[in-house]
Amino acid sequence: MTRPLKTTVLISGTGSNLQALIDAAAAPDHGARIVVVISDRPEVKALERAAAAGIPTEVVSWRASSGREQFTTAVCDAAERNGARAMILAGFMRILAPVAMERFPAAIINTHPALLPAFPGAHAVPQALAHGVKLTGVTIHFVDEEVDHGPIIYQEAVAVDPGDTEDELQARIQAAEHRVYPMVVDAFCRGRLDVDGRMVNWRESL
Ligand code: GRF
Repeated sequence: MTRPLKTTVLISGTGSNLQALIDAAAAPDHGARIVVVISDRPEVKALERAAAAGIPTEVVSWRASSGREQFTTAVCDAAERNGARAMILAGFMRILAPVAMERFPAAIINTHPALLPAFPGAHAVPQALAHGVKLTGVTIHFVDEEVDHGPIIYQEAVAVDPGDTEDELQARIQAAEHRVYPMVVDAFCRGRLDVDGRMVNWRESL
């Protein structure tokens, strides 16, 4: 194949999805190469995972920033400085300002632990449980100006079992994320995704 696409992964915490992306990108034919991991806070587990894999890291402090626009510009600058052409959000708990979409058009992807448009936001798993849904899951989507809203690339359903705790349901959703997110990132990096308004068309079947 052609050379892998240089990407950055944006994280805020544990980084189990980052680990899945790192592991997948180690394969010689994977579409993505992670050139830098960017965090909005220091001393999180995901930064240790990146360092252990020999991937450069940068911290763009949200707390030290003067607002969303300035923070987003600093994140984009860090990504570009390291040669990244796309941004992969993996448990990144900050909302990017529109300048990110201008600088990385149709090149910012997020994973969300629910079947969007149900349960956007930071509490999708407890909200799904509280609502009594029987199916929830994973949505991988392009990022636009609204929270958890951009064109949907891929979804996988996860059943809610009777008596599920939040931790149990979250663990099954994350297991699905770890399986499908690297696959979707690979497809994106290979140019297999066509975006037409809200519709994302895959060039070949999975
Ligand atoms: C993931 O479940 C993701 O969907 C959500 O935050 C979680 C991050 O987990 N946005 P991790 O840091 O990748 O372990």
